[in-house]
Amino acid sequence: MKKNLVFLGPPGAGKGTQAKRLAKDLGLVHISTGDILRDAVKNQTPLGKKAKEYMDRGELVPDDLIIALIEEVMPPEGGVIFDGFPRTIAQAEALDEMLDRKGLKLDAVILFDVPDEVVVERLSGRRVCPSCGAVYHIKFNPPKEDEICDRCGTKLVQREDDREEVVRNRLEVYRKQTAPLIEYYERKGILIRLDASKDIDEVYQELRKVV
Ligand code: AP5
Repeated sequence: MKKNLVFLGPPGAGKGTQAKRLAKDLGLVHISTGDILRDAVKNQTPLGKKAKEYMDRGELVPDDLIIALIEEVMPPEGGVIFDGFPRTIAQAEALDEMLDRKGLKLDAVILFDVPDEVVVERLSGRRVCPSCGAVYHIKFNPPKEDEICDRCGTKLVQREDDREEVVRNRLEVYRKQTAPLIEYYERKGILIRLDASKDIDEVYQELRKVV
């Protein structure tokens, strides 16, 4: 049976970067609630209209909206990397219940461990492609041509919520609402800690070893 994994960690820890690579190599489905929500905001769907004000402030989108979204996108046969979900105890309980109902289980929760100063450096230098969603860093993972997407040639932009004051709030929200999940999954015996402060390739090697 294919694995179901959760990538947990503060904003900018590198969850999305590693999830994209691992999903491709292991043939898993990458479900990033952040990416789905940003798409919904861009396309001005009913979900996007409700989510925007929370995302702009760096707050969490209400649990009921997120849980309904996951129910909608979850493949029945599993084989998923959940990136940025769950983020509250209520979301974690809803995930347990949903997997149970489908006869699936969570194999591991990978905690991307990084200090705050690394987070701030990574988020302030992050650039994203508004067209294809590719993610770069001006210093650690730069595009070949300055500020231009390697994949589709679009001009890169900075994410709205990567402004310094919003980043500070996102870190606070992580500490208060999401960090309690560390103990929740530790108690279940499925939490794996990963030193995510190393460079992108080193983190990926470690990830392959533990998964
Ligand atoms: P979301 O998009 O999930 O944001 P996040 O969890 O804050 O994570 P990020 O996307 O900022 O970071 P990441 O860990 O994926 O890092 P990345 O790989 O990009 O959520 C956004 C918002 O949506 C939330 O604030 C909330 O409002 C809402 N939301 C989403 N899910 C929700 C949920 N479940 N419930 C409620 N609300 C929800 O890397 C960061 C940068 O560092 C990049 O530039 C990258 O190139 C670089 N980098 C990556 N790895 C390394 C490395 N090892 N060394 C050097 N640089 C690196």
